Amino acid sequence: MLLRALELTAFRNLADTVLQPGPQLNVLAGDNAQGKTNLLEAIYLLGTLRSFRASKLGELMRWDVEAQGGSARVAGRVDTRGIERKHEVTIQAGKKVARLDGKGVRSPTDYFKWLTTVLFTPDDLGVLRGSPGGRRRLLDRAVFNRTPAYLGEHNDYQRALKSRNAILKDGGPDDMLEIWDFHLARYGARVVARRLAYIAELEPRVAAGYEAITHTGLRARLAYQGLEGLPLEASEADIHAALVAAIGRSRGRDRARQFSSVGPHADDLGLWLDDRDVRLYASQGQTRALALALKIAEIRLLRDVHGSDPILLLDDVSSELDPQRNAHLFDFLDEVACQCFLTTTHPEYVRARLNRKDYRVVNGVIEG
Ligand SMILES: Nc1ncnc2c1ncn2[C@@H]1O[C@H](COP(=O)(O)OP(=O)(O)OP(=O)(O)O)[C@@H](O)[C@H]1O
Ligand SMILES: [Mg+2]
Repeated sequence: MLLRALELTAFRNLADTVLQPGPQLNVLAGDNAQGKTNLLEAIYLLGTLRSFRASKLGELMRWDVEAQGGSARVAGRVDTRGIERKHEVTIQAGKKVARLDGKGVRSPTDYFKWLTTVLFTPDDLGVLRGSPGGRRRLLDRAVFNRTPAYLGEHNDYQRALKSRNAILKDGGPDDMLEIWDFHLARYGARVVARRLAYIAELEPRVAAGYEAITHTGLRARLAYQGLEGLPLEASEADIHAALVAAIGRSRGRDRARQFSSVGPHADDLGLWLDDRDVRLYASQGQTRALALALKIAEIRLLRDVHGSDPILLLDDVSSELDPQRNAHLFDFLDEVACQCFLTTTHPEYVRARLNRKDYRVVNGVIEG
């Protein structure tokens, strides 16, 4: 995939502009707080219709424009296997409208499949040893990139969870709770099945990537941690049966706690090096190498299954990786040669050999 042109209007602190990025490495250099990450956020928004850091869409609109009730817009021409599409997102009054080739988007999956972005930020390094919620988000983002339909499936689940929790909170009647137990298990089984299938695909690639980075002979392993005893190859029907049983058993406890305790929202992505739990025992260096291996594995997997490369967004990762991991990252970028947007305060440390275009970001102005 290639982002051939990017048009920004009233997005964050960035001056309105049209960019023609290079086909490989685009380096966005600049001091702190100039708008480098904002530019990555704009591309990410274009690909996912979400932000990776704003909790409200309104935050994305330039302050003066927001105060006047205006709108923000990000548009891009994306070339995927020789087919060019125009993606467009407008934000107005806290709402977003997406367009593909100028038309309203009826099937979000159709919009997403033409533009896949993989983001790597320093936050990803903390996620592996942080709380389960961070790892679930990491996993869900990756599953969504692999299978765009997952977004809708995940939303269905979240709605069922919200409704069931509302009934638990209000002490609603048993027959109502049963209805939402049913939906929770049904949508939950789909979410878990997608996550399991993804982990099975990803794991060998992570193991190979980790070994290539570290040469230690330690095997990186992933596992889904949800319902006890559920094998990685469990079918959706198996998962559904297990969830129905577990939700049934949890009912008394859930009533007491006024919260749903069982389901994919409570699960975790387990990570090990040989048989040592990364979440408890990994060193900083091991954690960083594994975070990098996870991203590289994700990109390789997307390449293998979609037949085209995603667009990489690397936010200031070089400052967080040690020289050896950095060298590996740049070797990898040279090898895959996919389009990449990389932010840095020190462009002289960016050692990629590939075709490169340098930008400077100064107070929201992107100088090419
Ligand atoms: N909606 C908005 N309107 C105008 N300015 C904004 C808006 N949101 C954020 N900013 C400004 O954008 C700047 C931050 O931009 P960004 O996070 O992209 O910086 P950066 O160049 O990535 O810096 P660093 O190197 O520190 O990560 C801040 O000065 C912030 O005040
Ligand atoms: Mg930044």
